Amino acid sequence: MQPDAVDNSDYLPADIGHPPIIFGAGGPLRKGSQAPTPPRSVVGIGNKVAKPDYSEAKIVLAMVGLPARGKSYLSNKLMRYLKWLEYNVKVFNVGQLRRSRARQKAQQSGIQEDHTSSYFSHSNVEATKLRDELAQDSLEMLIQWLKDGGNVGIHDATNSTRSRRAMIEARVAKEKGIYVIFLESICSDPAVIAANVALKVSSGDPDYKDTSREEAKRDFIRRIKEYEAVYETITEPHLSYLRITNVGDEVTLSRINGYLQSRIAFYLMNLHVKPRSIFVSRHGESQYNVDGKIGGDSSLSPRGLEYAKALPGLVRDNIGTAPLTVWTSTLQRTIQTAQDLPYTKLTWKSLDELDAGVCDGMTYEEIEQAYPDDFANRDEDKFNYRYRGGESYRDVVVRLEPVIMELERQENILIIGHQAILRCLYAYFHDLPQTDLPYIKIPLHTVIKLTPKAYGCDEERYMLPIKAVDTHRPKPHVQQLEVPLINSTREYYDK
Ligand code: SIN
Repeated sequence: MQPDAVDNSDYLPADIGHPPIIFGAGGPLRKGSQAPTPPRSVVGIGNKVAKPDYSEAKIVLAMVGLPARGKSYLSNKLMRYLKWLEYNVKVFNVGQLRRSRARQKAQQSGIQEDHTSSYFSHSNVEATKLRDELAQDSLEMLIQWLKDGGNVGIHDATNSTRSRRAMIEARVAKEKGIYVIFLESICSDPAVIAANVALKVSSGDPDYKDTSREEAKRDFIRRIKEYEAVYETITEPHLSYLRITNVGDEVTLSRINGYLQSRIAFYLMNLHVKPRSIFVSRHGESQYNVDGKIGGDSSLSPRGLEYAKALPGLVRDNIGTAPLTVWTSTLQRTIQTAQDLPYTKLTWKSLDELDAGVCDGMTYEEIEQAYPDDFANRDEDKFNYRYRGGESYRDVVVRLEPVIMELERQENILIIGHQAILRCLYAYFHDLPQTDLPYIKIPLHTVIKLTPKAYGCDEERYMLPIKAVDTHRPKPHVQQLEVPLINSTREYYDK
């Protein structure tokens, strides 16, 4: 095969956006789960990897915290991570339920409920009762969803009094095999609170859709004060809980047991909210790319070397004097691409390209000829197809978990990687589904800048005007996956 030449003649940053969707990966089994389906042999020499059985993992994760303390941010981050580990996760947002019920009421009876700050006052007995009912109803829906096959249901509400937590605890205790943990978010940094308030009033929050920004801000601050008047931090010694203070500063754990709860705790311990960007680029064009071969450990082609020479300028234009660490795989094409970058470098074995096993070093035409059944099988379910003696995309996602954890902990990072690896990382940051993941376009000689935002990730692409082959193989007989739109607005609002 001689891949088509691609002309990256524009050095253009492109702003693009997308709606988030789901994507997941394998991981260790919980004690007591049924045995996973063993890898299924397919016609041919490879096999298919099965999704792990998480059917016994059932957790209610109840958020605790004042408004504007990042509860929805944490809920959504955690959901994305756990979905990536292939758990079935859903956020049940009580504010969203309140708004949709109020809309129904207005349609049916014409009565508009007042949801300004007085609605959230403890002295408003009627509204307090309504709010408790909404929290209970939301919990009921969550429990039903867990019974129907969910793993982690996140109760996204303030749950800021002992009595509310006692209600949740008592209700969950009635369900065999379902456990509750509380996640309290405390924020004492006025700048972060102010930013969260600004986000609430400026991001199209339906609570303030017909209100001026100034009035919305005043009202939201009054609402926070109403909650503060009755707020009780978690002190109940018997509860399982995690308390996060100023995301990234301090995490307190109490009665956290078991694999899934520990994973949740570990992930939350690694989060921070400092502004930073993650840059990703494939290695420069390699000799194997030019020859149309997959895998191997070839060195860069002359055009690949040109890219390596041009890369430091592009990175410097973007990052200026800010600190940056460069991560490469252990393969020489990534190390060569990074060789002129004047930053600290780290080599990760986990970043090595998907192992094509017996097909390593072959062209796609050679694979099709030698293993026609495998070629077809891989096209049919590329995420799960495992090369004989090699890996599947699912295997790669599992081995990338420590990389993701470290990426959450770090600040500015540039990853010089490989096509399959960068697809997996990209899918994590943009919450893309497994079926689309193996077809994400990550062209050569392009730097992708990902900037995590409160609710998603912004993206810019910088293409260097150095020609390279196109190694992308589209999904056969299927409409092409468009480059996703990047959307960093709050995703949990009523649609
Ligand atoms: C809300 O209605 O917006 C939040 C409800 C709550 O948890 O207090």
